[in-house]
Amino acid sequence: MPNIVVIGTQWGDEGKGRIVDLIAERVDVVARYQGGSNAGHTIVTNDKTLVLHHIPSGILREGKLSVIGNGVVVDPKVLLEEIEKIKSHGYRVDEENLKLSDSAHIVMPYHKEIDLAREERMGSSKIGTTGRGIGPVYEDKAARRGIRFSDLINPEGFSVRLRSILEERNLYITRVLGRSALEFEKIYEEYIIYGNKLRMFITDTSKVLNDAISQGKSVLFEGAQGALLDVDFGTYPYVTSSSAGAGGACIGTGVSPTKIDLVMGVAKAYTTRVGEGPFPSEISGDLGIRLRELGGEYGSTTGRPRRCGWFDSVALRYSSMINAVSGLAITKLDVLSSLDKIKICVGYRYKGELLTEFPSNTEILKHCEPVYEELDGWREELRDLKNLSSLPPSARAYLERIEETTGVPIWILSLGPSREKVIFLRDIFS
Ligand code: IMP
Repeated sequence: MPNIVVIGTQWGDEGKGRIVDLIAERVDVVARYQGGSNAGHTIVTNDKTLVLHHIPSGILREGKLSVIGNGVVVDPKVLLEEIEKIKSHGYRVDEENLKLSDSAHIVMPYHKEIDLAREERMGSSKIGTTGRGIGPVYEDKAARRGIRFSDLINPEGFSVRLRSILEERNLYITRVLGRSALEFEKIYEEYIIYGNKLRMFITDTSKVLNDAISQGKSVLFEGAQGALLDVDFGTYPYVTSSSAGAGGACIGTGVSPTKIDLVMGVAKAYTTRVGEGPFPSEISGDLGIRLRELGGEYGSTTGRPRRCGWFDSVALRYSSMINAVSGLAITKLDVLSSLDKIKICVGYRYKGELLTEFPSNTEILKHCEPVYEELDGWREELRDLKNLSSLPPSARAYLERIEETTGVPIWILSLGPSREKVIFLRDIFS
């Protein structure tokens, strides 16, 4: 059985949770490798909708192991709420089916404080973060002043470490950001309780995963956000602070690249983006608003309205190249029913020149005008269709153009949020 990485190929919100939930049926282990509570992976089962922030989307499948890897930054309060929510929906979550890395970094109250205060200070040049403390916690990880779960479950060590880090962070919060200092005792007492509640899940997950692979089990690595929000390859600085691409799977779990067989890219049939940053194929005006309403494009974590635009094959080719995407899962094709014309962005015009490659320089991207190909739309409802041949000819033509212009085959077609609204065009396990 192959080990697969599933990534978002756009700016996040591609529907990864839904695709991971589908594929999870066929694997043994599902591991999250980066991001944190900024992610919101939505899964619809038996008419129930669950939004997962840290826990892999495989948790809803009986007999599968879910792993939160070392590369994930965990907000323990949110994680505990998530566990309770999943249980209240009748699913099992215990030390047998959920493992949390002892090396995963913890989002502390000062990370959220710093994230929000900075965004406020930046005004119109803000990033548009989710306000979950993600940038500051990854910053602390790189600066070697982070707190990990291995620290949290050792009360004395945690106390010493928190005291010294907080002293330094409070200087920054008060003197640079002009906010009030945070109290040691309050944080310590709150977090010790979280540590005790989560203790049973905490372990060396790199060992768990490598042992599973050695035993011939298959692992699905679940990416969060999208390749264009990757801290290195995304539209910097309008990115998240982790490696959201396929490479992040290795760094964020301790599994070698030689153990990974396939990369599946998830792409929405159009494009969305939340927060600031360039988005060449963004649709302004009424049509953009209409697409937002048709697709229910509001952030699953923050509720913010998403910016909507046409499918961008230039961006897709770039994210597929960086991540060696083997096949695509196209989601939300059903949302496009009822549009008379549908466009695909096939190039950018920059200072009169035609660009067919995605510019790595964000300043250039900001000034790119989209070059479109226009295709006929379709009026038929797609949600109940069971195979490719029953799709309206113009929907099939649209998918063919996506394959031709991105150079990546489509393997899965998702036509609605619930599990059965899907067409498999290829068995990825064959
Ligand atoms: P942060 O990850 O909260 O620091 O936010 C940085 C950028 O990534 C912002 O533009 C966010 O809107 C975006 N972002 C973070 N997480 C997600 C996600 O799960 N889906 C879509 N965008 C996200």
